[in-house]
Amino acid sequence: MTADLFADLFNEAPPDWREDLAPGAVVLRGFALPMVPALLAGVEAVTASAPFRHLVTPGGQTMSVAMSNTGALGWVSDRRGYRYDATDPQTGRPWPAMPAAFAQLALDAAHAAGFDGFTPQACLINRYAIGARLSLHQDKDELDYDHPIVSVSLGLPAVFLFGGFERSDRQARIPIAHGDVVVWGGPSRLRYHGVQPIKPGVHPLLGDVRINLTFRKVR
Ligand code: SIN
Ligand code: FE2
Repeated sequence: MTADLFADLFNEAPPDWREDLAPGAVVLRGFALPMVPALLAGVEAVTASAPFRHLVTPGGQTMSVAMSNTGALGWVSDRRGYRYDATDPQTGRPWPAMPAAFAQLALDAAHAAGFDGFTPQACLINRYAIGARLSLHQDKDELDYDHPIVSVSLGLPAVFLFGGFERSDRQARIPIAHGDVVVWGGPSRLRYHGVQPIKPGVHPLLGDVRINLTFRKVR
């Protein structure tokens, strides 16, 4: 087989770790696996100084997902609304600096999905216990929609709901496993998405927890 034929084959058939969801949206299966030890060490270090907490929505509901942040900006919610803040409202201190391994993975995953130069200021760390869920929403608290969302999953599996541009649009149900990275940007940047309640289980590394890292360029 000639090199040319190889090149044609590779251009036409995406590698099997890459699953297209929609234009600008892709699942990179197992993309984060080589980084798992660094990512888990990072989560531990960050949440030692900015502990996981259950935020309250503007409507007064306590979220089932526990959250923390790392980076120059962190996403927070309270009775006044959703926003990004350079300070952790719980400690009064800046959010812990983003670990180098986090920034590198975000850059590499965005690149693999076709988005160059992704330098997020914010990494939201979501911790799901069994039964925790995230209802359908759009990520639209950012000033900059030119950059994608990069979402890294660790621990227990989940069903990621990936919808359209109206809340009522049909959603694809995407099984997501430890090490998978979902990237959505460009024409898919404002799609509704969410996470179904986490099913009971035990993950060999993380036990009864799912951790998600969501990277965003805010402005
Ligand atoms: C999010 O939308 O912020 C998180 C999605 C996930 O946990 O997979
Ligand atoms: Fe989101």
